[in-house]
Amino acid sequence: MTMKSNAVTSPIREVEGLSVRYGKVEALHDGKLTVGAGQIVSVIGPNGAGKSTLLNAIMGALPQTGPAKGTVRYLSKDVSALAIERRVSRGMYLVPEKRELFATMTVEDNLMFGAYRRKRAGERNHLDQFEHVFRLFPRLKERRKQAAGTLSGGERQMLAVERALMGKPQLLMLDEPSLGLAPLIVKEIFHIISALRQTGVATLFALGRSAEFQARNKPL
Ligand SMILES: Nc1ncnc2c1ncn2[C@@H]1O[C@H](COP(=O)(O)OP(=O)(O)O)[C@@H](O)[C@H]1O
Ligand SMILES: [Mg+2]
Repeated sequence: MTMKSNAVTSPIREVEGLSVRYGKVEALHDGKLTVGAGQIVSVIGPNGAGKSTLLNAIMGALPQTGPAKGTVRYLSKDVSALAIERRVSRGMYLVPEKRELFATMTVEDNLMFGAYRRKRAGERNHLDQFEHVFRLFPRLKERRKQAAGTLSGGERQMLAVERALMGKPQLLMLDEPSLGLAPLIVKEIFHIISALRQTGVATLFALGRSAEFQARNKPL
């Protein structure tokens, strides 16, 4: 698997010697990467290369069968032993490959759920991102009373990203966000991610081979 990265002045996330085994299978061997503030880093590889394993290990969301070895640092602190909830509350967020929206809940309710961490942390303005994310994705504003399960694939992916943004993450990880989506939608999503960069959010992508081709031909 290729791990590409550029020079980093202010690292948000550093990973060192990360290895993950599922029983006898070593899915990830000695992974190492750094993501800085305002950077977009992508891990690229074919199916089964270990991309999802890497992202899940960073998030602390691996199944019990796959304990991770190695160090995950976030904002200079070792978070390797922290539970997923603790990592979320520090501003890490993973949009998993399967998107995992609440299908019977409306667009709006899914978004509120994204802000739940901030609400629980006592932030009185925890819904302040509503207008901002609707400005980024006007199409979802029109559909805010619609059940998430009735959205198209592209709209669902937008909602998954938008829900993540409601929590104001500092590190946003996206697992194959372009999988199964039309090129125009992919372009739209990549455009939004590159706008996020201006706000200092660090983004880590996992991309399959075809997405790599797209990204190379249309740089972010
Ligand atoms: N929960 C699991 N239990 C056992 N093996 C797994 C599990 N998840 C992934 N694997 C295996 O680990 C390897 C890497 O998978 P994955 O991280 O999903 O790759 P990618 O996201 O790059 O397609 C694959 O060989 C896969 O079959
Ligand atoms: Mg995967």
